[in-house]
Amino acid sequence: MSALNITDTLQRPLRDLRISVTDRCNFRCTYCMPKEIFGDDYAFMPKSELLSFEEITRLAKLFVAFGVKKIRLTGGEPLLRRDLPDLIRMLTAIDGLEDIGLTTNGLLLKQYGNALYEAGLRRLNVSLDSLSKETFGKMNGRGLGPERILENIDYAKSIGFQVKVNMVVQKGVNDHEVVPMAAYFKERGITLRFIEFMDVGTDNGWSFKQVVTKKEILGLLQETEELEPAEARYFGEVAGRYRYKNADAEIGFITSVSESFCSSCTRARVSSEGKFYTCLFATEGFDLRSILRSGASDGELARAVREVWERRSDRYSDERTEQTAKSRKKIGMSYIGG
Ligand code: GTP
Ligand code: 5AD
Ligand code: SF4
Ligand code: SF4
Repeated sequence: MSALNITDTLQRPLRDLRISVTDRCNFRCTYCMPKEIFGDDYAFMPKSELLSFEEITRLAKLFVAFGVKKIRLTGGEPLLRRDLPDLIRMLTAIDGLEDIGLTTNGLLLKQYGNALYEAGLRRLNVSLDSLSKETFGKMNGRGLGPERILENIDYAKSIGFQVKVNMVVQKGVNDHEVVPMAAYFKERGITLRFIEFMDVGTDNGWSFKQVVTKKEILGLLQETEELEPAEARYFGEVAGRYRYKNADAEIGFITSVSESFCSSCTRARVSSEGKFYTCLFATEGFDLRSILRSGASDGELARAVREVWERRSDRYSDERTEQTAKSRKKIGMSYIGG
């Protein structure tokens, strides 16, 4: 099946789809779901509001018909969505889809890893911000140490998953962990990606002052390591990668703040309730669920998706200032899935 390639107003094609399957999470990371805001009485979405697996799959097929090659499942914490392997099975059957990944905090991998692998999932990105019990416990808002996540990463590797690790670096919070984290994952041949702390949502108190830039992180690592830049694997790759000269291992940088990458941004996002967003920092989404549930035909649904993408002009990170970061109303990270 050949796809009908569509482009936005900046000539960017549609290639990746990030689907959030739940807005819930078992962590309360300070930079994403601070527990002061996401407390015990926080109103998450009721199940009836969530897209069903059939609805997600119907949308996914339609996006693939417009050129999407990669789907990434996110949350909240996607492993909290019941029967997730069933969704993987449904998505892997889509003709023309080349890659499915999942981004998780890793806590429930021991429980669900095997079923996900058997369903056809092969790629996992696991978030881990520190090897120190104290620092990680503070950052995940649950006082949980890194041991279980590290064990689960090893477990996931042992059953065959390709695993990468994401570390959000925040000044004065975990920047002292950059070097130990790099050493730990280098030794295991696992790619560690350093993510610049971003102003996603309105709850995480972001300011430029708390960002540790790629340049600073690379500087820290180059005090003891020899690293060389690696070529991007495909147009629009999010992370800039570097190879260790003396080991079969890589690191990556996700530089939304210091070196934005909007000009090659091919990503669409669908929230767990079926809102379609054309940027991580969007204020509003387009309600696909109403169309899905109105009895509309695939043609009508496809027309709506196409119109939204062809109108797209987002380039938030290119234009970010301290002022826009503070004043713009943005949807939350746990809701849109990063
Ligand atoms: P692969 O490259 O397929 O492994 O996945 P990924 O890096 O695109 O996905 P992941 O969920 O691991 O995201 C890593 C970080 O990149 C998260 O902090 C995301 O919020 C961030 N990210 C992903 N896509 C974008 C984007 O389009 N814009 C911005 N600003 N950040 C993004
Ligand atoms: N800035 C940068 N990365 C973030 N993530 C969550 N919130 C932020 C933020 N404010 C990361 C998570 C996860 C990925 C989906 O996004 O740690 O690895
Ligand atoms: Fe949960 Fe991920 Fe947000 Fe942390 S960053 S609170 S693990 S969704
Ligand atoms: Fe894409 Fe928006 Fe991120 Fe720019 S800021 S790369 S347009 S999602």
